[in-house]
Amino acid sequence: MKIFNKKFPNIFLNKRKFYTKSSDKTSFFDERIIVEKKSFFREWDSKRSKLAAALSNGISQIGIKEGSVVLYLGASHGYTPSFVSDIIGDSGFVFCVEISPVVARDLVVICEKRKNMTPILASANHPETYKQLVVEADIVYQDIAQKNQVEIFLKNCNAYLKKEGFGLLTIKSRSIDITKKPKMIFKEVMKVLEEKMTVVDYRTLEPHEKDHALFVVKKK
Ligand SMILES: C[S@@+](CC[C@H](N)C(=O)[O-])C[C@H]1O[C@@H](n2cnc3c(N)ncnc32)[C@H](O)[C@@H]1O
Repeated sequence: MKIFNKKFPNIFLNKRKFYTKSSDKTSFFDERIIVEKKSFFREWDSKRSKLAAALSNGISQIGIKEGSVVLYLGASHGYTPSFVSDIIGDSGFVFCVEISPVVARDLVVICEKRKNMTPILASANHPETYKQLVVEADIVYQDIAQKNQVEIFLKNCNAYLKKEGFGLLTIKSRSIDITKKPKMIFKEVMKVLEEKMTVVDYRTLEPHEKDHALFVVKKK
């Protein structure tokens, strides 16, 4: 089995599939684990993770690396956050904000097993409510299907993203306006982001996710 590091730190490739290196062989989501020279590599599914989908579609930069502090908005059951946790390693940290107590139950289980993740039951629409629980972040990652998703993202970047830190925003165009073509929505999102941030790159996420895009921005 040949597994090799591509261009992003701690993200590996084998037969066109992405993997992250885990400190143990726990498979939280029934993901495949490859054992290679006593290291454990977890398969990261581009159909389940918009970040993996953006990597599959050739995004040029994600900013996340060993030691990064990540504010993750819309953590859900913890699928993508668990891979981010692998990438940043023991010297990094992921603050996982999730609004739904039901899905947060699975997230809590993962966070109990991983020293570099913590769950925060809160609405990302009200960043002031978790002020005491987070620190300034190198990365703000958002995956929330809300009409005002861009506004929520900018509020959080404004409150918690370090200068020159990276923001990663997934967009579900139908949640913003179901009557408009996704292309048009992405153009409008780009314009709003460009007013406040430097847009580094963006990718639409098909065929993995229909009518979605992921934007990478940098705080000026
Ligand atoms: C598409 S899922 C996220 C999937 C996850 N990012 C992953 O890749 O594993 C969107 C999540 O955002 C949560 N959500 C929606 N509105 C929110 C808000 N205002 N604040 C925090 N979480 C929110 C939903 O409950 C849902 O779990």
